[in-house]
Amino acid sequence: MSNTRVTLKARQVSFAWDKTPLHWLPDDPFATHTINVLHLLLPAGERWFVHVYKQVLPLIRDDRLREDVIGFIGQEAMHSQAHDEVLPHLREQGLDPTPYTAQVDWFFEKLLGDRTLPPGRAREWWLMERVALIAAIEHYTAFLGDWVLNADELDRRGADPTMLDLLRWHGAEEVEHRSVAFELFEHLDGGYRRRVRTWATAFTALVFLWQRGARFFMENDPTLVDGKASFKDFYRGGKQGVLPSTGAMMRSIPRYLSRGYHPEQEGDTAQAVAYLAASPAATAAEARTAARTGAAG
Ligand SMILES: [Fe+2]
Ligand SMILES: [Fe+2]
Repeated sequence: MSNTRVTLKARQVSFAWDKTPLHWLPDDPFATHTINVLHLLLPAGERWFVHVYKQVLPLIRDDRLREDVIGFIGQEAMHSQAHDEVLPHLREQGLDPTPYTAQVDWFFEKLLGDRTLPPGRAREWWLMERVALIAAIEHYTAFLGDWVLNADELDRRGADPTMLDLLRWHGAEEVEHRSVAFELFEHLDGGYRRRVRTWATAFTALVFLWQRGARFFMENDPTLVDGKASFKDFYRGGKQGVLPSTGAMMRSIPRYLSRGYHPEQEGDTAQAVAYLAASPAATAAEARTAARTGAAG
């Protein structure tokens, strides 16, 4: 395992979705749609990260951490946009996610939004609560990033290469920046009770939203008759290696709740950096950026 620190930068990726089939994991609509829930949650969720972190920037008293947070904001803004761009493709294939994304937007913008609070303790409490929630969610984005980088079964089953590249480019950047949200929380507050409380909220919300999203996709997939999503299917997907395993997810809980937790202990930076150096979307983005700066210089 190698975990040298990297300077975080946003890669201006773009993906062409016209050749990606609806069931991009062949013959497995359930695993396809369970992973597709990312496209529903992340655009609003990562926009919300950026919104909260922009408010937090003036409170950071450490230059290195501020730089990391700025890099994190750039990466998350790009992730949000890249997943958002999958949605028109789903609509073209007869799967309009608007009824579900409207709920997700409400969740992040209203329920977890700024609220009308007077300046002072209440406002600060709510900001810290959200900083801690983001740290808890980032434990899971790093977990999923590490999983997808190692999910060889998706390759063996002939998963669509464009979708795999989106998931692995994103997953690799999640592994790259996995320490930022936790270090920011530690820097600004770091209270253990707050860490536990916000973990419980984040975990419950993720499970709730995820199973609802998978059910929404299965029920509205125009190619399925009586499509359903169940925990049994999820468990099976985990056993087969096309989804994260239930056991690995359960084992990740006490790790986050242990007092000695640090995200550096999770995932492998060298593997993430190696993927980004080979990713078709990330390398094309680097080439475009180089051409632009070359032309400008
Ligand atoms: Fe992300
Ligand atoms: Fe992230």
